[in-house]
Amino acid sequence: MYTTALLAVLSTAFASQGANGQIPRLGGVNTAGYDFTVYTNGSFTDSAAPPPTWQYAHFSAEGANLYRVPFAWQEMTPTLGGPINTSFFEQYDSTVQAALASSPYAYAIVDLHNYARWNGGIIAQGGPTNEQYASIWSQIAALYGQNDRLLFGVMNEPHDLDIPTWAESVQYVVNAIRAAGATNYLLLPGSNYTSAQTFPTGAGPYLLDVTDPLGGTERLIFDVHKYLDYDNSGTHAECVTNNTVVLETLVSWLRENGNRQAILSETGGGNTASCELYLGQELAYVKSAYPNLVGFSVWAAGSFATDYILSETPYPNGTDQPLWIDAVRPNLP
Ligand SMILES: *[C@@H]1O[C@H](CO)[C@@H](O)[C@H](O)[C@H]1NC(C)=O
Ligand SMILES: *[C@@H]1O[C@H](CO)[C@@H](O)[C@H](O)[C@H]1NC(C)=O
Ligand SMILES: *[C@@H]1O[C@H](CO)[C@@H](O)[C@H](O)[C@H]1NC(C)=O
Ligand SMILES: *[C@@H]1O[C@H](CO)[C@@H](O)[C@H](O)[C@H]1NC(C)=O
Ligand SMILES: *[C@@H]1O[C@H](CO)[C@@H](O)[C@H](O)[C@H]1NC(C)=O
Repeated sequence: MYTTALLAVLSTAFASQGANGQIPRLGGVNTAGYDFTVYTNGSFTDSAAPPPTWQYAHFSAEGANLYRVPFAWQEMTPTLGGPINTSFFEQYDSTVQAALASSPYAYAIVDLHNYARWNGGIIAQGGPTNEQYASIWSQIAALYGQNDRLLFGVMNEPHDLDIPTWAESVQYVVNAIRAAGATNYLLLPGSNYTSAQTFPTGAGPYLLDVTDPLGGTERLIFDVHKYLDYDNSGTHAECVTNNTVVLETLVSWLRENGNRQAILSETGGGNTASCELYLGQELAYVKSAYPNLVGFSVWAAGSFATDYILSETPYPNGTDQPLWIDAVRPNLP
């Protein structure tokens, strides 16, 4: 018994790291709900819906090991720059803990889903100050620091902003997180809704200059999104590309610039034949490009209805969506 317990602890310790001590290959799903409904202007209409926790065990049993858990800034800190709402945090944390408990290999992304904005104002560009932005992360760092299985998505999908100024805000928040004692992996987003396509020529060159007070860049992972519909919006049921040209360009750029890493934290499509083909090809490429591409989380399950256009939410009888079965599941780590 004693030996078995010790072995279990050791195998967990090994599982949480890749072969040479780096983050392992990750694959899974966004579990949306606490971000309902944040608009792309950073306004929020107070309709958060906790993701059903049974989904984590369901997906982990199939081999998923990554869960992105988006939340509205205004839910976590109802006052800009103010304290975390402990009632909300307890609720959010019960979700995050369910994700982590679903498997010894499971990772979760704590995702601040606010488009670099609070109620229409852009961080350090007319809206919240960098200090106000850093305040929420300093508090989360104090609560969730020192856990390698919790990745901090420092901001979801910045867009329509000044990129050099945004890179300064990213540096500011990285410094604040480290100053609060957290060693977690940090996911750094670019502009254009953190498009994988514009990253190498847009925000990427500026974000390369962001430094980690811990030293090195192993714990600073670029955060990119890419959809497969004709306008890359993730709002159409049909897919028109497998994105491999875009992702190969990104991977070349990562390799040429210090062998850096990125994660595709949003991608997905409808439950259609075109998406089953193209998403499957895309995720196979992502898997093959590890460790430069750490992995993916598809959009989305959680509180989305089973008939949402990009739904990966399993049916009440436990059956998965066709896209999950045909394109995602075969490409899990
Ligand atoms: C804090 O969170 C709880 C639980 O979500 C909520 O009922 C309450 O209204 C929140 N408080 C504020 C000030 O938003
Ligand atoms: C943000 O967008 C929503 C939806 O379009 C709109 O109702 C709201 O007024 C906007 N908020 C601000 C501050 O512009
Ligand atoms: C990307 O964002 C920048 C700055 O926000 C903007 O100037 C540029 O037009 C955008 N590019 C695309 C392809 O949307
Ligand atoms: C993606 O599509 C292109 C063009 O159809 C094809 O050449 C390529 O093999 C596909 N990639 C994968 C990983 O299947
Ligand atoms: C589960 O429900 C879905 C949607 O209603 C249905 O298509 C599928 O056949 C069901 N599977 C089983 C095993 O009952």
